[in-house]
Amino acid sequence: MAKLKIGAIASGSGSNLEAIIKSCEDGILKTKASVEVLICNKAGAFCMERAKNHNIPYELIESDKFLHLPREEYDERMIKVLKKYNCDLIVLVGYMRLISKNLINAFNGNIMNIHPALLPAFKGLHAHRDVLEYGAKVSGCTVHFVDVESDHGPIIIQKCVPVYDTDTEATLGSRVLEWEHKIFPKAIELFCDKKLSIAGRLVIVDGDVNL
Ligand code: GAR
Repeated sequence: MAKLKIGAIASGSGSNLEAIIKSCEDGILKTKASVEVLICNKAGAFCMERAKNHNIPYELIESDKFLHLPREEYDERMIKVLKKYNCDLIVLVGYMRLISKNLINAFNGNIMNIHPALLPAFKGLHAHRDVLEYGAKVSGCTVHFVDVESDHGPIIIQKCVPVYDTDTEATLGSRVLEWEHKIFPKAIELFCDKKLSIAGRLVIVDGDVNL
């Protein structure tokens, strides 16, 4: 069977991108998927180095240069690139912007995002800080399908981790990140194996999610 073609969109370091690339190269996605292209919206972001190191093409489409445009027009530029590479699934790996309905429709809703908290709690850009300030005793990470609302679409996988009294944003962040690197490839594998179906807000997973 043909491998699923993944297009990735990132803004930052790209450790989730790298976890997915490695799963495709030599892990659970080896026979199932490949990362075809990275789009990055931030000049100098390390995710592009990671793509380069794995011989994956990347394009920088600097969002700061297009702030005068409606989001749809910025997203059109991304759609063009993702279509050029015939992507079947789009993964948002630390992409710190909202996406438009046009982008979602262009890929029939086959867009996944990872968020570093247990949605619907602690949405937004500072999840770990917000978890610590709130005094929550558990946190975690969530992979979900994307809709037009931020950190909102139907949930595919969540993983819970403890929060300790001594935690800082950095220690909590790295505990959560370790699981992000496992649940995102797993969610993609379930998608490749056609084990995900959506009923309203519910993602029905056919079988067990063994991590
Ligand atoms: C990850 O923790 C991801 O969950 C988060 O950004 C980080 C990117 O790290 N995404 C969001 O907060 C989106 N709302 P990475 O660049 O090393 O993958």
